[in-house]
Amino acid sequence: MPGVVLLGAQWGDEGKGKITDLLSRDYDYVARFQGGNNAGHTVIVGDRKLQLHLIPSGIMYDNVTPVIGNGCVLDLKVLIDEIDRLESEGISCERLVISSNAHLIMPYHRDLDAASEHRLGANLIGTTKRGIGPAYSDKVSRMGLRMQDLFDRSIFREKVAAALIEKNDILAKVYGLPTYTVDDIATEYQQYAQRLKPYIADTSPLINDALDKDDWVLFEGAQGTLLDIDHGTYPFVTSSNPTAGGAAVGAGVGPTKINRVLGIAKAYITRVGSGPFPTELSCADGDTFIEVGREYGTTTGRRRRAGWYDAVITKYAVQVNGLTDLCITKLDILSEFPTIKICVAYKHLDQTYTTVPGHQSAFHHAQPVYEEMPGWNVDISGCRHFDDLPPAAQAYIKRLEELAGVPVTMIAVGPDREQTIHRGFLQRNRSN
Ligand code: IMP
Repeated sequence: MPGVVLLGAQWGDEGKGKITDLLSRDYDYVARFQGGNNAGHTVIVGDRKLQLHLIPSGIMYDNVTPVIGNGCVLDLKVLIDEIDRLESEGISCERLVISSNAHLIMPYHRDLDAASEHRLGANLIGTTKRGIGPAYSDKVSRMGLRMQDLFDRSIFREKVAAALIEKNDILAKVYGLPTYTVDDIATEYQQYAQRLKPYIADTSPLINDALDKDDWVLFEGAQGTLLDIDHGTYPFVTSSNPTAGGAAVGAGVGPTKINRVLGIAKAYITRVGSGPFPTELSCADGDTFIEVGREYGTTTGRRRRAGWYDAVITKYAVQVNGLTDLCITKLDILSEFPTIKICVAYKHLDQTYTTVPGHQSAFHHAQPVYEEMPGWNVDISGCRHFDDLPPAAQAYIKRLEELAGVPVTMIAVGPDREQTIHRGFLQRNRSN
């Protein structure tokens, strides 16, 4: 112990990459437990900017074993390209370990993701079109292929053949798209198998042994709580569980192995893709969040939607994840505003909600109830201690703590590792 889960408390893009990267140096293992290359982290190291989609951010540190857990779905070409890119930047991927039970994103998954979005028209989910949903659908319907299948040619061919009976029909007859042959897929994936063999292992015992030895394990969530397939704004969600319980399932550890759950929330809020968003702004303030906060997707380059901080959502994230700590990122972006708003409740018809409404219709039509606080209008990107922050910024953080009911133990005031205020989040005394 300790096992620490780091996850998004909003709709993803909370700045998890920077915090994972910052914390990783204290850990022995950093494990991804869900999602695939729909995720995108930008890690800034000095003057270098690195983008990661699949490989855990811990890859930057020699002391970290980065693990891709069983709960992830993997596009093997993207994975190999990412390994090659990191290696060409002088970052060794030798320590990377990939679960033999992780599922594969197949070419037809990408086709079906894009085709299904196209067919939905105005009702589209706004997926990343990386094949995530179709890959998880096949996993659940027991038609998926896993990493371990790559290493038995006849089983691989058999499973691809079984899947193609249905997939080719759907591709051709429903969408009028080209079909696949077993030979094409087997030839392509055999090359990937050769390349990836050294990284494959049974990662659940690896992580459990590490925790039993008192090594430190960081479970790195992708996306965010409101994109969770069970607890998010269904159907406008991803197809996995980015919530804390997903870490146990997706890495193969028991929930008793998790000691702390750190939720990352931006000082305002954004989302990409469709779906309800009570505090969304379509005015100049929204544009300020986008332009000053550089709110464009790392994976797809899409302009994000933006709005004021929603404390109702954070409270929900505290509840469904059992958050023990909050980290507020991008506080510096709020320096632009003379007055700052926090959504503390919703109104719908004649009802007021202080928690996320149980019925989707109420959430879709929820009107935010705002509390206003004075802004601080000075550059805070150089602050390194809580007391360095202007009183109005301190008051804002304290109010967020009060509303969430958990302490804000980290605050980010800029994109660099150093631009962080530490307020008591678990740090390792390496002499122990
Ligand atoms: P999918 O995960 O590609 O199926 O997309 C489903 C929904 O999740 C869409 O609204 C995406 O925009 C959103 N999404 C997926 N990955 C991320 C992410 O890393 N950050 C933010 N939103 C994401």
